[in-house]
Order: sequence, then C-alpha cells, then structure tokens
Amino acid sequence: MTTTAPAGSAPHDPLQIRALPKQWSEGAVPPQVEAVATSLRNPWAVSPESARILARLVRTEGIGRVLEFGAGMSSRVLGQALDAVGGGRLTAVECHPEWCAVPWAHVRALPSVDTSLIRGTLWLRADWRGVYFGYGEVDQIRNRGPYDLVFIDAPVGVYGREGALHAAITAVAPGGWIVLDDAARPRERRTVRRWLLYYPDLELVVYDETVPRGMAILRRTPAPLRTAQFSERGRDWARSLRETYWRHDELLDHMRKQSSTSIPPSS
Ligand SMILES: C[S@@+](CC[C@H](N)C(=O)[O-])C[C@H]1O[C@@H](n2cnc3c(N)ncnc32)[C@H](O)[C@@H]1O
Repeated sequence: MTTTAPAGSAPHDPLQIRALPKQWSEGAVPPQVEAVATSLRNPWAVSPESARILARLVRTEGIGRVLEFGAGMSSRVLGQALDAVGGGRLTAVECHPEWCAVPWAHVRALPSVDTSLIRGTLWLRADWRGVYFGYGEVDQIRNRGPYDLVFIDAPVGVYGREGALHAAITAVAPGGWIVLDDAARPRERRTVRRWLLYYPDLELVVYDETVPRGMAILRRTPAPLRTAQFSERGRDWARSLRETYWRHDELLDHMRKQSSTSIPPSS
C-alpha cells in the first residue's frame, strides 16, 4: 500500500494516496456479480471496476449488512455479492426511486437478501459539522442498522455527499466500512477531509485515484484515532457556509432542470 499526498495538497493533509490492497483490487469475483459488472454502460452507474471491488470487499470482510446511498446498478452488484456469501440485508436510500425501479426489482427477487428502499429527501442543514445537504430519513436509516458497509454514490455532486455519512455514522458498526465512489472529484475530496476532521474514529484505509473516478475506503474504528481539532473545525465550518453560498446558482439551476425533465431509468 503506498502513501503519498495527492497533487496540490498541503503537507499535513489527511487525504493521502493509499492504494487499494491486492485482496480488493485482484482476485475472484462471483460470476453473478461479473455478469452485472460487464453489463454496466449507463454513465450514472457504478463502474465495472468499482463493482468488482465492492464484491471482493463483501467476501473478504465478512459483510452481511449493507447500506447504500444512490440505488441502481450498484444495488444489483451489492445484492448479488450478498447472495454469493449466503445472503444478507441491503438498505438503499434513493431520492428518485423511479430511476432504479428495474434494477431494484432484480434485487427484491433475491430470496437470500432482505431489502428495503427508502425514498430520500435532502434538506439544507447547519449543525456542528458545518452547512450541508442532509437526508431527512435519519431515523429510518438508523433503524435498519447496524451496517458493516456503507456505499456512498449519491446525492448528485452539486449537493455534496457529506450528508450521507452524517445520516448513517451512528449506525455504522465498529470496524464497519465506508466506501465513497467518485472520490477523485474536488468536491468528494473535500468530503473525505471533512469526515476525517469531524469523526476522529474514522481511518482512511484507501484513497485511490486509479480506480475510475476515484474511490475512498474508510473504516470506523472502535476508539478515536485523533484528538478533536476544534480550531480547524471552526475554519471548515465557515468554508462550508461559503461553499454552499457560492454554489447556490448551480444548485438552483440543477433543481430547475430536474423539475422540467424526467430522469432516464437505469436498466
Ligand atoms: C451516481 S447516481 C447513483 C447510481 C447508482 N449507485 C448506480 O450504480 O446505478 C446518483 C444519483 O443520481 C440520480 N440520477 C440518476 N440519473 C440522473 C439524471 N439523469 N439526472 C439527474 N440525476 C440523476 C439518482 O437519484 C442517483 O441515485
């Protein structure tokens, strides 16, 4: 595993390159997951490589209880990966359930997987973790926990993905895994830095930009790894407020477009 700072990062930056270890980058993938991975063509869907990594993670880490933000083809991947290890529980949070109706029907047809699809709603929130878009269904999400794996592939980039983990963090089992897709994008890099700043019991295990669009894998440790950095949190809080304000035009534009167009379904 290599550890270097990504280009343009400060020397003390907590976001260090940590390459995927071999047990997750290589090795067998269940044939039913491989069949889904090779069919992935929708640009909104998880990449074939990320799909294989998720399946290896489920197998090697004994994962049975999964939560995902952003349902669709990744739900099929995770459902098949759970089925291949004897079954489990898959909970998905999706703001547009109509987008994932077809893949979700496949997941529900797996008898070994206990499924639940939660319709997510996003709200502008401000609390000790800054200003961010958070999910309104926190109780429903927590009630299906604890989770061994949280896969975060939503909401769409313009909202920022901080709020997904904020909704789930207390339901992540000690030793549980958090996977952020698209982690090489600037907004997602900031998201990982923020999670590490606000949750001292998170360890960055993988930050790999060679996976298509990047992938970060974090682990919730049983005890804190760092002391709380209150002054840095204060600075970051102000940054999150400025960032939300700066991006409000982009966000309004996205909302306008979304209300005037229907989202094409995932297959
Ligand atoms: C990156 S996609 C999630 C994909 C899912 N994990 C998969 O592998 O298929 C994130 C979210 O974008 C939304 N979305 C999908 N297609 C969209 C579109 N054409 N326009 C706007 N939002 C879209 C959906 O709500 C989806 O959950």
